[in-house]
Amino acid sequence: MKKIFILIFICVFSKAEAQKFENLALTPPMGWNSWNTFKCDGINENVIKEMANTMVSKGMKAAGYEYIVIDDCWQIGRDNQGYIIIDKEKFPSGMKALADYIHSKGLKFGIYSDAGTHTCGGRPGSKNYELKDAERYAEWGVDYLKYDWCNTEGQDAIASYTLMRDALYTNKRPILFSICEWGENEPWKWAGTIGHIWRTTYDINFDGSFDGDRWGNQFGWSEIIDKQVGLEKYAGPGHWNDPDMLAVGIGMPVNESRAHFTMWCMLAAPLMSGNDLREMTYDTQAILTNKHLIAIDQDNLGKQGYKIIDEGAFEVWQKPLSNGEIAICLFNRDTKVKDYILNWKQLKIKAFEGTYSVKNVWTQSPMGTTEDITKLQLPSRDVILFRLKPI
Ligand code: GLA
Repeated sequence: MKKIFILIFICVFSKAEAQKFENLALTPPMGWNSWNTFKCDGINENVIKEMANTMVSKGMKAAGYEYIVIDDCWQIGRDNQGYIIIDKEKFPSGMKALADYIHSKGLKFGIYSDAGTHTCGGRPGSKNYELKDAERYAEWGVDYLKYDWCNTEGQDAIASYTLMRDALYTNKRPILFSICEWGENEPWKWAGTIGHIWRTTYDINFDGSFDGDRWGNQFGWSEIIDKQVGLEKYAGPGHWNDPDMLAVGIGMPVNESRAHFTMWCMLAAPLMSGNDLREMTYDTQAILTNKHLIAIDQDNLGKQGYKIIDEGAFEVWQKPLSNGEIAICLFNRDTKVKDYILNWKQLKIKAFEGTYSVKNVWTQSPMGTTEDITKLQLPSRDVILFRLKPI
């Protein structure tokens, strides 16, 4: 009898011990990640420091961007005790010094590893070294871990991600856990208690054509949007679907960058920029730091937007906001301009009660009320975003 009590006690106790860190990512995380521009070869500590500096000097920090994340290829091996070895040529001062620098700018520091034997870039993964890696991350002052899924043959996704979650928790430093298994095992169904965000698809432009058309083709961002339909019920404060990092300012015309950013905000997606912040154009900076857009992404209600009209190349998306406000996005996926008569009552908006004042979010111009019928022209591959406020 006594033994059974002890067993129950151990089970309950270890269950209470094993958990993700709470109160992180209450709104979708915002930051910058090295991968989309710098890949494996381009990263080093100077680049990362310059990104932190630019995050501050170009208004990104003030707009809410917080995490600076080093993606793959900072690690080169393991020492004879099993601890990870940093590539000292690229990071001669080590990760603790870099984390201190990033923290001194009022920003947070993120790093990358993989649940398998090797990362996607062929560097050592964390499999069988979860505790040792988590120990180092805590020592260095890591605030965010992106954990990938390459080279995991035969591994169970839930078990592998749980193992790292628990290793992080053991070390007591709150670390946002970003699950990156590309939606292969439907993580939206199980990842909410394990991580704070989880990728729902492969990378934007998975086919490698970063220089090509980011819009469509295989895994262009507009195609990634199609894969988010129906996932809205799994997202909320502390647990978000992640349709991949932003490609704003990386080889896209301004209308497409604007539409991409807008749709990520409608999806309450993590806003992880990936462009070279030092060289961004005025247009890119204006998109990434637009406070009216970011307010929609970061709205405290924490609802992911969903599609309410689908007419092929024309879609309407709704995102409920706090205080009964609503964001409505008209999305023209066509390569032609679309003439459109906007009659609010025909939009099938959910929980649409009474009359609302209407504002165009990008132009900030008032657009009357939802009683009005307005003639619009929707530019090609672009959006018009409205914010509705109950009157
Ligand atoms: C995978 C991930 C990317 C990036 C690379 C790094 O492809 O999905 O986001 O982290 O690995 O090798």
